[in-house]
Amino acid sequence: MDTNTIKYSLRKYKLYVIFGPIFKSIEVIFELFTPFVIRYIIDEGISAGLENNYLRIIVPGIILVLMCLLSFGFTFVCQYLSSVCSQGFGTDLRNRIYKKIATLSSLDLEKIGKGNLLTLISNDTNRLQLGIANLIRLAIRAPLLVVGSLIMSIFISIEAFLILFIAVIIIAIPIILIFYFSSRQILKVQESIDKVSSLSNDDLAGARVIRAFNKEEYEINKFKKLSNQYYKDAKVNQTLNALVNPITYLVLNTAAIFVVYLGRDNIFANVPLSAGSLTALIQYLNQITTALIVTFNVVIVLTKAQSSRERVNDFFKIVPSIQDGSITNKDIEYDENELVKFENVSFKYSDSEKNVVNNLDFSIKKGEKIGIIGGTGAGKTTIIKLLERFFDVTSGKILFKGHDIKDFNIKTLREQISLVSQKTSIFNGTIKENVLMGKDDISDEEVVEALKEADAYSFVFKYEDNINHEIVESGKNLSGGQKQRITIARALIKKSDLLILDDSTSALDFLTDKKIRETIASKKDLTTIIISQRATSLKECNKILVMDKGHIVNIGTHEELLKNSPIYKEIYESQVNTHG
Ligand SMILES: Nc1ncnc2c1ncn2[C@@H]1O[C@H](COP(=O)(O)OP(=O)(O)OP(=O)(O)O)[C@@H](O)[C@H]1O
Ligand SMILES: [Mg+2]
Repeated sequence: MDTNTIKYSLRKYKLYVIFGPIFKSIEVIFELFTPFVIRYIIDEGISAGLENNYLRIIVPGIILVLMCLLSFGFTFVCQYLSSVCSQGFGTDLRNRIYKKIATLSSLDLEKIGKGNLLTLISNDTNRLQLGIANLIRLAIRAPLLVVGSLIMSIFISIEAFLILFIAVIIIAIPIILIFYFSSRQILKVQESIDKVSSLSNDDLAGARVIRAFNKEEYEINKFKKLSNQYYKDAKVNQTLNALVNPITYLVLNTAAIFVVYLGRDNIFANVPLSAGSLTALIQYLNQITTALIVTFNVVIVLTKAQSSRERVNDFFKIVPSIQDGSITNKDIEYDENELVKFENVSFKYSDSEKNVVNNLDFSIKKGEKIGIIGGTGAGKTTIIKLLERFFDVTSGKILFKGHDIKDFNIKTLREQISLVSQKTSIFNGTIKENVLMGKDDISDEEVVEALKEADAYSFVFKYEDNINHEIVESGKNLSGGQKQRITIARALIKKSDLLILDDSTSALDFLTDKKIRETIASKKDLTTIIISQRATSLKECNKILVMDKGHIVNIGTHEELLKNSPIYKEIYESQVNTHG
């Protein structure tokens, strides 16, 4: 069974979906009888003078109050059921979407777009939630009230029914017309607000990049255009909305006059309708009008929910481009000379014209410290993305502990690798939580130890609340270097087989950088890949890969490379000269 569907999320709440409308229907019955009781009070009580008013006014009055209380009770239960159901459903769906996102590769996510993902979790889920709440509360109630009111009028008299029927038609035509136009408009508004929120989400996510590339003007214009479209669509919609109430009351009152006119000089029969019957009919007319408006609103809400439903279902249908492997064992026997092995690996991003990395061939021994150096865009980070299986190789093979990484369960593979990525990711929460990232079998002492190793404790211990210090807005109150050190501590505490530092010390001063490198060098068993633009940071590595335009151009130790690699020599000398 596919657990990734909206239907599946709703199955859990089957009983709510059945019993909610039942309770609401019972409430409708009370509502339908109310005009009847009022009719009795008017015709038998008030019109009959003051005799017997106990039986004819007070008793039915009490009945009216009781009916009111009961109907309140049933409504309350229905509202409760629908709230629990729709909120539960929404939370469930959001979790499911989130879970699905986790199965998708970076490539898949890039294709969908961050803005669209946020729209799925927020707008679309909210709309579905609202749709379900409406379905339970109103979808049965409103039509039932219309049909019920018409049927009840038959019990007054056939003529009363005919009069009410004509009045309903007088009311229904303009309401249908207004809703026909406004529903189309509402969907248009919906589309434009989706576009606006999707674009602004993307822009917020990439704000720094936009600024870095001087694309502000282009993005601002794009946003302005969408935003103006939204403004225009919304304006028409608001105008139509503003018309709904006055027009409805105009036709309702006109129809009421018709009821009184037709009923008083009963044109269908000789006997005029009583004052009580007329009052009851006008009340039914009121109920029907409200119900009609509600019905159309429900239709609009459901139409919106339907388009969200399609989007959510389409999202669930996406087949992850990276398929999970079956190896879940981390302690496998392997040749320690080849913890990692790249065999003729080439890779091309879906939107790039040629390969970003070409024929990569190298292996890493257990415990080795490997450096990767090369100009920006050389393909260094791409190597890591391939090793962690954020993307799959285009050709060639990557082996980890002797197995093709495609054969590993992705979670198992990633558990064995600690990555401090180039882009530091700090989350809202305490420093401790940021270091632990969900691990719960680690003591505070170990957290402090990892922070010390990453040279982060020097600023953490200054906080009064120490490692429980709250980081706000994804690290806005931390410097770039402080963030880097926290992410290094996070990687160290993970205790995996392979540690990767992707330009992770770029924001650190030379001394701190050195201190961290020494700590790592002292961990003899910890295999480490250090990517850096600074040759000095890689000097002590057992092996350095020099990359240029997607190729490994040289491999060797610092000394060897100084002799054999013109590119390395050039990088080193330019840096030593500027620093020295
Ligand atoms: N998601 C992507 N889609 C398309 N092309 C990409 C993507 N990510 C990177 N590239 C391209 O791949 C090439 C290699 O990028 P990569 O990030 O591996 O470089 P790098 O060596 O890590 O550079 P830096 O030192 O600046 O971090 C670059 O030309 C880059 O433009
Ligand atoms: Mg990089």
